[in-house]
Amino acid sequence: MKIAIINGPNLNLLGKRETDIYGNQSFEQYFAGLQAKYPQAELSYFQSNIEGELVDELQRVGYSVQGIIMNPAAYTHTSVAIGDAIAAITAPVVEVHISNVHAREEFRKLSYVSGKSVGSIFGLGLRGYELALDYLLGH
Ligand code: DQA
Repeated sequence: MKIAIINGPNLNLLGKRETDIYGNQSFEQYFAGLQAKYPQAELSYFQSNIEGELVDELQRVGYSVQGIIMNPAAYTHTSVAIGDAIAAITAPVVEVHISNVHAREEFRKLSYVSGKSVGSIFGLGLRGYELALDYLLGH
């Protein structure tokens, strides 16, 4: 089963960035652990700080993989284009946020992605990606 993980802006800085909110682990470390734990899942990982590249990646994988786990990061709250891309593709998308976006600034409560996704997970740290993967694998 092919599952794509797509991360948005500044998530390349996980482990260095606001560690009180996002933790000490880099996504590369976390991803290696996920691959080891779920050898049956053919996982891919893409990160970009550029909105159009995230749209391109959704279009590229969105008709061939069985599921997508996406953390659009700050673009969650601004990007009609990412929401439209999720609506356009056939693969189900699970939206993940490491932090509890509803317990933070007001602007983080708006998501252009939630309404186009099969479901959303927020506030459970990096564990959210694994929970999303469990869902997409049908566990
Ligand atoms: C985030 C939450 C967003 O509001 C923020 O802009 C991020 C990360 C999260 O994973 O908690 O960059 O998506």
